[in-house]
Amino acid sequence: MRGVSKAFGSTMALSGVDFDLRPGEVHTLMGENGAGKSTLMKILIGLHHADGGEILLNGNQVKFSSPREALDNGIAMIHQELYPVLDMTVADNIFMGRELLKSRFGPLSLVDFRSTRGRAAGLLREMGLKAAPDALMRQLSVAETQLVEIIKAVSQGARIIIMDEPTSAITEREIEHLFSHIRRLKENGVAIIYISHKMEEIFRISDRITVLRDGTHIATRPASELIPDVLVGMMVGREIRDIYPSRPERPKGEIALEVVGLSDAGKFSGVSFSVRKGEILGMAGLMGAGRTEIAECLFGINPRAGGEIRINGDPTAIRSPRDAIRRGMALISDDRKQKGLNLEATVGENISLLRLRSFSKAGIINRSRERAEIDVYMGKLGVKAESGDAPVTSLSGGNQQKVVLAKWLMAEPEIIVFDEPTRGIDVGAKHDIYVLINELAGRGKAILMISSEMNEIVGMSDRVVVIADGRLTGTLGKDEIDQERIMALASNIA
Ligand SMILES: Nc1ncnc2c1ncn2[C@@H]1O[C@H](COP(=O)(O)OP(=O)(O)OP(=O)(O)O)[C@@H](O)[C@H]1O
Ligand SMILES: [Mg+2]
Repeated sequence: MRGVSKAFGSTMALSGVDFDLRPGEVHTLMGENGAGKSTLMKILIGLHHADGGEILLNGNQVKFSSPREALDNGIAMIHQELYPVLDMTVADNIFMGRELLKSRFGPLSLVDFRSTRGRAAGLLREMGLKAAPDALMRQLSVAETQLVEIIKAVSQGARIIIMDEPTSAITEREIEHLFSHIRRLKENGVAIIYISHKMEEIFRISDRITVLRDGTHIATRPASELIPDVLVGMMVGREIRDIYPSRPERPKGEIALEVVGLSDAGKFSGVSFSVRKGEILGMAGLMGAGRTEIAECLFGINPRAGGEIRINGDPTAIRSPRDAIRRGMALISDDRKQKGLNLEATVGENISLLRLRSFSKAGIINRSRERAEIDVYMGKLGVKAESGDAPVTSLSGGNQQKVVLAKWLMAEPEIIVFDEPTRGIDVGAKHDIYVLINELAGRGKAILMISSEMNEIVGMSDRVVVIADGRLTGTLGKDEIDQERIMALASNIA
């Protein structure tokens, strides 16, 4: 790709960006949220059209008018924001558009469902995925959906595969499968463009790294010549000395949230813990340990659970998210498509949704107050958007995540459950979010922070509870928090 440029309205998403890819390499694209990574890739596959520049494939100038055409030329993209066809089976989704037929002759070509299912089962097994080929896409977790998309691209025989944050929602074990798959693809000469914010992973898998900042090309280097600090410096254009802000030791308040013997058959059982006002309780564990399910149960998404939830000492029946919100709770979830955002609305409408009542008098919304408040929160979180009136879908993935955060913080909840608060968020913005979480604790909010990022748990928590296989396997006080202990408890070998 040579000198590629693209503007959206007044936003210069890309200006004169060069990018090249060799057979059999993993070339990683890095940059802050909104730097232009996804846009560059969408241009490559014909989803967006560049305003300037050219694309050469094996030396020939190409310009695809649709992802279908790109695929026919051996380029597949696994998107950051997945829109799977929810009512389709896993097998049908994998073979969508190239169904296996019983007979190519005759007037009727019948889809061969049996071999479609069989072939899909084989591919799923190879990837180490438990999902059944005839499960519906809607029954899959985000992680599984992502893996199915990867399987789809691989099985389509693509020579160039673009993976836009493929591991943002998958487990350690699935990452190992993915990486061994990537290595095999490389041996067969397949080239991979990899986008991720996870530093450790990037250094494990990349051959070369290209950094974009504000839509411009900053550098392309072999990964072996880079170290994380230098890379971060290139991305944000300044030095971030300490990503985890220090917090003055403060006396904790009363217990705000207490959970006793929380159970839900098959998901988790006998989970008890408490969070004080002004405290950050980290919840660690491997993915799939049941942490999200616990959070959803607290928030009334899953009302059939047993056990007791006490808020400010009072046993409280929370039967729906509405109940939870009324009791001053917020769940800031990791799944922005399904639980966090209204995709038809603007950035501002999403942010102020839970506070509309406080801007209204006699049913009339005071729009200028609302707008001022929206601007405050957009500023606090550094949401990169043209304005509050921009459609939320026009934002980059990481910026959409910031909108989810802004919406809940504006509602001024007393008890805040964060489920993977910085997933898909670049390093610079991570720091801002940590500062914000600390500030909330400083103002007496009780915070439960679920995270799979060890550094985040260790860097942010006052205490840590560890969940393994649906049970609480340990609670660590401030002085006991360290990586080895947490890992041991998380894998339940303590
Ligand atoms: N469809 C669109 N309409 C308007 N603006 C857009 C659109 N798509 C992207 N942009 C803007 O272009 C810029 C680059 O966005 P892009 O999605 O490429 O970022 P990114 O590097 O992938 O970020 P992230 O790490 O958050 O995924 C952002 O300012 C974004 O708001
Ligand atoms: Mg992106």
